[in-house]
Amino acid sequence: MIKYSLKIPQAIYSGENSLENIKTIVKNSKKIALFTDKGIQGAGLLDNVINQLEGVEVVIFNELPAEPTCDEAQKVIDEFKTSNADFIIAVGGGSVMDIAKLASIAITDDYGVRDLLDNPQIGVKSIKTLMIPTTAGTGSEATPNSIVAVPEKELKVGIVNEAMIPDYVILDAIMIKNLPFKIAAATGVDALAHAIECFTSKKATPFSDMFALESLELIINNIEKACLNPDAMEAKNNMMLAAFYAGVAITASGTTAVHALSYPLGGKYHIPHGVSNAMMLVPVMKFNEPVCRPLLAKAYDRVVKNGRETTEEAKSAWMIEKLGNIVEKLEIPTSLKEYGVDNKDLDVLVESGMNVQRLLVNNMREVTKEDARALYLEIM
Ligand SMILES: NC(=O)c1ccc[n+]([C@@H]2O[C@H](COP(=O)([O-])OP(=O)(O)OC[C@H]3O[C@@H](n4cnc5c(N)ncnc54)[C@H](O)[C@@H]3O)[C@@H](O)[C@H]2O)c1
Ligand SMILES: [Zn+2]
Repeated sequence: MIKYSLKIPQAIYSGENSLENIKTIVKNSKKIALFTDKGIQGAGLLDNVINQLEGVEVVIFNELPAEPTCDEAQKVIDEFKTSNADFIIAVGGGSVMDIAKLASIAITDDYGVRDLLDNPQIGVKSIKTLMIPTTAGTGSEATPNSIVAVPEKELKVGIVNEAMIPDYVILDAIMIKNLPFKIAAATGVDALAHAIECFTSKKATPFSDMFALESLELIINNIEKACLNPDAMEAKNNMMLAAFYAGVAITASGTTAVHALSYPLGGKYHIPHGVSNAMMLVPVMKFNEPVCRPLLAKAYDRVVKNGRETTEEAKSAWMIEKLGNIVEKLEIPTSLKEYGVDNKDLDVLVESGMNVQRLLVNNMREVTKEDARALYLEIM
């Protein structure tokens, strides 16, 4: 029997008005560092949080660009280091949460973000964190991962250290009520990719399967409504849960070739994380199908009630078609042409993608250089 374990945040609050729990969570804090970005502030979302922090000193760090580089992250962390805050709250999508998590292990002059890239285990946590996601989403509120772009490598790199698993999480669907359609769609498909990749990963365990399957069921049955209808609060709440569950699945398992091959698309061409995953999702799942068929059929049995398909082959084909339908209905670009990438970039892409062995080794079907080239060609 394999050995497996699961590490998750110590307290998770969800449902209507769950932001009210902030007061109790921070009751012993004297000064709070609030990480966010200008988009979130502009959308008026920070007020929902600040209203809960009466009587506590708050210092705001909002100079975070979306999908930051390691140096941009370091700049914000350097400012934060001098703040003397005793608690971190992150209000934002994956970009904000990832940097807040890095900050929680980098309040020191002994090492910085670039050192953590090479040696993530040197990071020691010294401040507690509360994550309030505003996308549904990366699942960063559950994971030990922080992803930063490394400009000279033209790649996004994951720093993984269990000390970054957040302490508290609040999943309040009010934070995604007015999420712009394009962002809702891309971030929702990112969560979908997390769920299906973790379920079909070599690293999957009974723990990760439980969270990945529940996440998959919730996403497949709610994503379109949640993205298309601003008032579909139940569907949005389900997406918040699903994104968190998929994050737990990442912690217990790991993503595979979809995420691996999508990293260079973010690092070099600045394609948003959710969009690059949406591009790779169907090509990689089709590539994996011959070895993942029983798992994809099992996923079908879970997400489709009283389905018509009876054979593993048909169930598995249905799942992959469904993934494609979701990407299409949510109008996410599926061609690199829209981002100015063409065939002359192929060699560099293949090279960079093949470097993401951290995730490629999780893929059930081995991905060779030739396979990576063929997969990128499909989205050219
Ligand atoms: N740590 C992990 O486990 C993990 C997993 C997947 C992805 N990631 C990383 O997360 C980042 C992507 O995060 P993301 O997809 O959540 O997007 P994001 O955080 O980059 O946000 C995208 C844009 O949406 C805006 N925004 C966010 N929430 C909003 C809201 N409710 N209303 C209006 N605007 C809003 C932001 O201001 C930003 O401009 C990438 O860097 C990716 O690599 C991390
Ligand atoms: Zn992702």
